[in-house]
Amino acid sequence: MYDFVRFNQVYNRGQPLRWPMEQLQVSPFHRQDVGENDDQVQDNQSRQPFVPFSEACYFLPADFREQDKIHYEHPCDAFQKTLHADSLLIGFAEHFGKLERYMIKFFPNDPKAVATAKREVLLSYLLVESGEGDHAPKITMQYLDGLPYLIRRFYRGVDGRALLSETTRACLPIIDNETLVKNYALRYVLFGDLDFDNPGNILFIRSSALTQKTLLHIDGEYIFPDPQTIGHFVVNETWDPSQPVPGSLKWRQAKSAEMGVDEFFEMMIAQQNPVLGLLRMRNTLSQLKEMVLPFYVIQNCLEALPYYEQLARSFEAIPLETLVNGEADFQQILQIWEQHNIQELKPITLKHLVTGVYENK
Ligand SMILES: Nc1ncnc2c1ncn2[C@@H]1O[C@H](COP(=O)(O)OP(=O)(O)O)[C@@H](O)[C@H]1O
Ligand SMILES: [Mg+2]
Repeated sequence: MYDFVRFNQVYNRGQPLRWPMEQLQVSPFHRQDVGENDDQVQDNQSRQPFVPFSEACYFLPADFREQDKIHYEHPCDAFQKTLHADSLLIGFAEHFGKLERYMIKFFPNDPKAVATAKREVLLSYLLVESGEGDHAPKITMQYLDGLPYLIRRFYRGVDGRALLSETTRACLPIIDNETLVKNYALRYVLFGDLDFDNPGNILFIRSSALTQKTLLHIDGEYIFPDPQTIGHFVVNETWDPSQPVPGSLKWRQAKSAEMGVDEFFEMMIAQQNPVLGLLRMRNTLSQLKEMVLPFYVIQNCLEALPYYEQLARSFEAIPLETLVNGEADFQQILQIWEQHNIQELKPITLKHLVTGVYENK
């Protein structure tokens, strides 16, 4: 099992993470428009009606409440119009006179939803253990009145939907290619996000007291996908259970064999993955193909392998048998990286990562 005290040491100089649930005031979260100014967003948020976090369930969609047979009434009519069918809340708290914002996401209390929520926290832990804590939001999962929720700090910036339009692309920060390649390799290849074409799950953040200007991984609900995960993911409608899980190594290899390695690479680059999208915006196709995963990243990942295994087990994300047999996707991918890069001293390129085909042609 994973040693959570170790996490605090690696991520937070030995201190446990601080969550100001007592002071927190919450309100429904309205997703900001991509081009919206940060101060404007904060200003609009602060004008919303707030309730103490302990009353947060009042804002949740009816089906959340009915499911748990908890009846929430709020005496104040002013809140009525803000009710909406979503489970995302924004929270404000003060810490030594400074305003802090938090995002809170509630989940229905059923095992599938809890498993999904846990994976979001897991992604941050995996990144931290990979030596990439700068790209991991501060996040945890807790319960309120029996309902699971995730809480993470709110960060200033835009999500990857900014890539989708000509006008909003200008809002995106310049992030160096190396950072983009390694983040693609970790989240989308090694940890295998089924939701790889969802641009809204990467935040491109501006520098602030909290972080530097970089990218952050949010909403990793679909990392380490398995056939059960697909059961509650949209691609289910078109997915044949005898086929490899989309985003997995086998899936990448099968697609490369079916379409041709170059064709598959070009198809993936052209889709809506936010990290590949940002890379594509500023580089030519041949530059993209040649980009290399830095050696230190591979080394860090290989060193983190036992922690990945412990985390996958502690978060119950991968069956124990799969892990013991070394059959998890991340275990197999790391074996290939080791063989290819450390033993045979060959570079690992973005093309290898995207296509899953590592032998050089
Ligand atoms: N910590 C955060 N800081 C700033 N914006 C956030 C944060 N978390 C989420 N958002 C915004 O909210 C959107 C939805 O959040 P997400 O966790 O992806 O929820 P969902 O499961 O509804 O997709 C994101 O695309 C982003 O625009
Ligand atoms: Mg999302």
